[in-house]
Amino acid sequence: MSRPELIAPPEIYYGDTEAKKYTQNSRIQQIQAEMTYRALELLNLPPDQPAFLLDIGCGSGLSGEILEEQGHAWVGVDIAPSMLEVALEREVEGDLFLQDIGQGFGFRPGSFDGAISISVIQWLLNAETSHPSSSPPRRLTRFFTTLHSALRNPSRAVLQFYPSSDDQIQLITSIAQKAGFGGGVVVDYPNSKKAKKVFLCLFVGNGGGQQVPKGLEGEEAGERAKFEKRREREKRRKDSKKNNVKDRDWILKKKDLYRRRGKEDVPRDSQYTGRKRRPAF
Ligand SMILES: C[S@@+](CC[C@H](N)C(=O)[O-])C[C@H]1O[C@@H](n2cnc3c(N)ncnc32)[C@H](O)[C@@H]1O
Repeated sequence: MSRPELIAPPEIYYGDTEAKKYTQNSRIQQIQAEMTYRALELLNLPPDQPAFLLDIGCGSGLSGEILEEQGHAWVGVDIAPSMLEVALEREVEGDLFLQDIGQGFGFRPGSFDGAISISVIQWLLNAETSHPSSSPPRRLTRFFTTLHSALRNPSRAVLQFYPSSDDQIQLITSIAQKAGFGGGVVVDYPNSKKAKKVFLCLFVGNGGGQQVPKGLEGEEAGERAKFEKRREREKRRKDSKKNNVKDRDWILKKKDLYRRRGKEDVPRDSQYTGRKRRPAF
């Protein structure tokens, strides 16, 4: 199957239909959740403290939901309006921005305690136009330089992506280093065709004082451990959903915020907004 980034630009590929299909696919939900938990582990945040995180290419908020569940506040940026629309409909708690990460970020220096990005930066390896300013190295340079500045010192950014060659990994890491990042590449299950995952684990300053973490080995043992963890998480997620019903006021406030920001197509308020469904019996 052809890679999505070779088919069309992201904001076209993730149009209304694909954005919904992507978000509702239970296999995708599961894989993205696994990678988000692993990214959080690699971020190595101080335990039991809420952090302020950036989700780069947040899409419909699949990772954001996990950040919320773990008690963190987050900001999400994405280039595809339809993905953000789905995130909005799903009433995620993060603040969402429509933005091309290849143009760089405009956040105040040191704003974030960390950043994650799941299955996104391979899109930056394709030139959007033939203009030199949109060449992959230029876009990657703007992306990494402004990301470095948006993170506080020390902190980390963990970016999972799908390289199609070692040269691509080399290009990305060398540009990240030039932008000031330390750290390196972490490869989980390197010998498995299916389970192999590549993470860039980037440090601002000393990144919290540790070496680049080791990748996970041994597919079978890993799969079993993953399964156990998944079961635990699903239970925790269900429990936290039960205790985290968003009330009408919260939803109205969020919609009002988006309208004031000039966002179009915010769903209308109705007598049903934020009301619990009656149990069917
Ligand atoms: C495979 S989806 C992953 C979405 C989300 N991170 C997740 O794990 O569900 C890739 C996302 O990257 C976004 N993306 C691709 N290129 C981008 C760019 N230049 N700027 C911002 N977002 C981009 C797409 O719009 C899409 O939402």
